[in-house]
Amino acid sequence: WVLAPKHPFLEGKRVLVSAGPTQEDVDPVRFLTNRSSGKMGLAVAAAFRDAGAEVEVVHGPIHVPVPARVKARPVRSAADMASVVLSRQPDVDIIVMAAAVADFRPRPSTEKLKKAAFDGALHLDRTQDILATLGQRKRADQCLVGFAAETGSVLENAAKKIRDKNLDFIFANDVAAAGLGFAGDRNRLIALNRHGVQHDLGTRDKEALARELVAYVVHELQHRS
Ligand code: CTP
Ligand code: CA
Repeated sequence: WVLAPKHPFLEGKRVLVSAGPTQEDVDPVRFLTNRSSGKMGLAVAAAFRDAGAEVEVVHGPIHVPVPARVKARPVRSAADMASVVLSRQPDVDIIVMAAAVADFRPRPSTEKLKKAAFDGALHLDRTQDILATLGQRKRADQCLVGFAAETGSVLENAAKKIRDKNLDFIFANDVAAAGLGFAGDRNRLIALNRHGVQHDLGTRDKEALARELVAYVVHELQHRS
């Protein structure tokens, strides 16, 4: 077997990756979550590690182990993830938001909801957009990478997110495509830069896609003027 090649560009670079779902409490026994397994984010973390970077992962509740030699920072809710990621921003060079952060959260009840008393209506509030906040605070020497989980006009929506959130790159992911995306082992990613240039990373297993993602980001950063 061969060792994955180190990339000189990533030597001494600090990379933060977010991964997995979040859990938003409804009451002490219930929560809202999503289908994210965390596999794509962990694969990205391992690929950056293999390429020579120093890597940390801020992850929601997942059932897959965090790769060796990657610093794990477990969180639960979108609010927890926001506070950890935003507090780490000043110390890192590259941030990849692969987490499926909840867009809405209930106002949690301290008491378990009893079925006889509950009217069936859950009021949900918007959560903070972590990536957009990172984009507002981004240093010129920092690289910000997002994912776009889409159905429908995948590239159009991804192009809007890259502008709205002040990202360097976005990886669009058609979550409606059969057998691809959230819970599975394979995925299809299309990279997009700020100039609207697309690059199809193909349909592969998440580890291979993660290596392609790292190669793409390094290549783009090295040729950035
Ligand atoms: N994201 C985030 N904080 C949130 C929601 C999303 O940081 N509260 C990040 C995700 O990690 C991802 C990117 O924003 O990198 C895009 O997430 P996505 O769900 O595709 O887009 P949204 O901006 O949430 O819009 P919508 O869900 O309505 O498409
Ligand atoms: Ca969302």
